[in-house]
Amino acid sequence: MAFELPELPYAYDALEPYMSRETLEFHHDKHHKTYVETANKLIQGTGLEDRSLEDVVTASYKNADLKKLFNNTAQHWNHSAFWLSLTPSKSSGVPGALERQIQADLGGIDKFKKDFVAEGLSQFGSGWVWLVFDGGKLSIAKTGNAENPPALGKTSLITCDVWEHAYYIDYRNGREKFLNAFVDHLINWEYVAENFEKASSHRAAA
Ligand SMILES: [Fe+2]
Repeated sequence: MAFELPELPYAYDALEPYMSRETLEFHHDKHHKTYVETANKLIQGTGLEDRSLEDVVTASYKNADLKKLFNNTAQHWNHSAFWLSLTPSKSSGVPGALERQIQADLGGIDKFKKDFVAEGLSQFGSGWVWLVFDGGKLSIAKTGNAENPPALGKTSLITCDVWEHAYYIDYRNGREKFLNAFVDHLINWEYVAENFEKASSHRAAA
């Protein structure tokens, strides 16, 4: 089963002024699309053709023969999660159970925002910033290039792309401005809360 480029869950201009139509046209229609197309070519003959995207990401991680496949499938996974992490709707706030967990593990929403931006700024070169849930606790993490929480056996609740292509059109070299716009205006807290609920109920059932 071939991997498919997901449609954006909002219009291309819906995230303006924080993320432009031009950025989304390049980022989704060119960068993400290329990862999907390349992954579909690279998977041929590997024996992984019928596996889920997440399975292929974990199976190819740290496998020297499948390094390109990992890079392209992980980038497909990462971008798919990134589009869902964004919303054009002004969030009505962070749902209660999640807010309590952020307070307990990360020192509150304002501190989360500050630390998330700092983590993104400290990623040298291309990569990603994440809010992850692991071992019953929330934490902020960064990864380089295509590496991601599923490869590391962790659950991602939010992701932000800090490759230059994510912000260069709108913010030039201003990664900090982009990260601040992300935490203050773009995070889809309903999506985060859904991920948190799934991850914490899965843990409670385990
Ligand atoms: Fe990207």
